Amino acid sequence: MKTLPTFIFDLDGVITNTEDYHFDAWKSICIKLNYDLSPEKNEELKGVSRSECLEKILKWANQSLDSKEFKKLLNTKNELYLKKISNIDSSNIIEGVDDFIKKAKHRNHTIALYSSSKNARFILRKLNLYSYFDAIVDGNSVKASKPDPEGFILASKLTKSNPEDCVVFEDSEAGIIAGNKINMTTIGIGVSNKLEIADKVYKRFEEIKLKEF
Ligand code: BG6
Ligand code: MG
Repeated sequence: MKTLPTFIFDLDGVITNTEDYHFDAWKSICIKLNYDLSPEKNEELKGVSRSECLEKILKWANQSLDSKEFKKLLNTKNELYLKKISNIDSSNIIEGVDDFIKKAKHRNHTIALYSSSKNARFILRKLNLYSYFDAIVDGNSVKASKPDPEGFILASKLTKSNPEDCVVFEDSEAGIIAGNKINMTTIGIGVSNKLEIADKVYKRFEEIKLKEF
């Protein structure tokens, strides 16, 4: 009998539209650095930890900061972001994904989350989705963020699943690279051409049929 795969969901940009709030917050930080962050460059920040995002931005802006200033900017970015998400609720769930998760749960799929965000648990609670997850790996659980596969390996261990029996849902190139590295099945969600490296790409969850798995 075919093993029922474990589903590992990303959070920002897959379950909820918070990716836009990350972009807005980084844009404000970039203004302080006299750097104009384009949506194209922002694609490279998706799935990447907060501090690695700032490292990338500083490189693009050709600037450097001492560690105190670096930490200060990271805090400012997070404060801006937390302000933006303070009122989020289930209306911020991306259409179709909650239905997909509920149906998958009903069909006995094991459900995990791997997000690079340190705010992931807080957001899942706000969205009223926390209880659907059998395992949660977030930015506090890993040393190396996507595209390193550490978090996906941890999610597979916590759910007692073989990596080859896991299906990853991701909107970021970094996340797809990470899943591909350990032979998980990767599903890109969205329209970015950076997702072409995934095993399959869908624009929306409504297009995915559970029986495909
Ligand atoms: C990822 C986002 O989920 O989390 C990135 O795609 C973000 O854009 C990263 O930088 C870290 O998030 P946080 O909430 O810990 O700053
Ligand atoms: Mg994402």
